[in-house]
Amino acid sequence: MPTLVCTGCTSGLGSLALQLLLQQSPLTWHIIIASRSPTRGQQIVDQLTALAPTRNHRLTCLPLDLTLLGSVKQFATRVQEELAGASSEEEGEGKIDVLLLNAGVYKPTFTPLAGGWSEEAMVNHFAQHYLLHHLQSLLRPPSASHTLPLVIFTTSSLHTRVRSVEKLEAILRGKEGSAMDRYAASKFIQLLGAGQWKDELRGRADVVAVSPGFIPTTSLSRDSPLLQRLFMHYILSWAPFCTSLHDGASSLLRLLLPPPGITDLIERYRESDKGEVLYLGVKGEERELNPLLLAEGGGGEWAVGRERLEEWMNGEGERGVRE
Ligand SMILES: NC(=O)c1ccc[n+]([C@@H]2O[C@H](COP(=O)([O-])OP(=O)(O)OC[C@H]3O[C@@H](n4cnc5c(N)ncnc54)[C@H](OP(=O)(O)O)[C@@H]3O)[C@@H](O)[C@H]2O)c1
Repeated sequence: MPTLVCTGCTSGLGSLALQLLLQQSPLTWHIIIASRSPTRGQQIVDQLTALAPTRNHRLTCLPLDLTLLGSVKQFATRVQEELAGASSEEEGEGKIDVLLLNAGVYKPTFTPLAGGWSEEAMVNHFAQHYLLHHLQSLLRPPSASHTLPLVIFTTSSLHTRVRSVEKLEAILRGKEGSAMDRYAASKFIQLLGAGQWKDELRGRADVVAVSPGFIPTTSLSRDSPLLQRLFMHYILSWAPFCTSLHDGASSLLRLLLPPPGITDLIERYRESDKGEVLYLGVKGEERELNPLLLAEGGGGEWAVGRERLEEWMNGEGERGVRE
């Protein structure tokens, strides 16, 4: 039974991707869904169970609030316990086959979180990078009978808005730039992290970043003014440059039910150079990363170890200065 651990699948394109997966996959899945709201998480589990009542998928929701590193740590421990509980002689050891890091936020106004960082920095990159530090040992070890596990980062083409790495910290701390700059910067550092994980997990897992297109009908703009949300949902969503929720979800589904073309592409990227993560567009097409990412190489100074991240959030270390 393949195991999928996912963040950000309690609404929007992540939630639809799970529904499509259970409708279309010939496999029986063990899916661990992270949710900051137990009620919402249970609703999703119930909805998914109703889609395939006879298939014996194992669906579990575990609490995770990505604004708190403590919650990330607890989630990782619970994932480990859940995997141990799922182990059986027939199924083998409970390990992760796919880790989908899809949670994301866009905040029109800046409210500082731990260490003075924006919610975008924390949720879109730091906390999920920290989560991967905790979960990497639970990825299924390579064997003749299994392909490599897959780590998927949901990114955004807006990362290409970043023109200078020098300003990233000021933007992510709300001192410079607009809300869109903050979101773009958070997706840029997330991709730096993806590049670093690609190197660190070489031979142990494949790492792919997906840009699902611009989908005005998800809840990503939930904190924007009502009129703006109505405009996005009912008018902007018809614009030719926008992506439908279904197509956005399908961009993730394509990696969960990979057709041969994608599998070949992933294999081609396995040995490519430092930081060069496979970056796919909404139709599964290969896209070019912001060249600044490659110039930074690997994770640069944004994809650090667990202890450094904890220091930064505690207001310690070179990036941890509390205002
Ligand atoms: N929509 C677009 O145009 C677009 C374009 C490019 C990339 N993306 C990316 O696609 C991904 C999915 O976004 P979406 O558009 O589907 O938006 P969405 O409907 O708002 O989904 C965001 C998901 O992230 C979760 N999340 C947010 N903050 C969290 C926290 N503190 N702790 C735990 N989970 C948290 C949400 O949980 P709740 O259900 O509890 O709110 C939800 O499941 C994001 O990474 C986003 O950046 C979206």
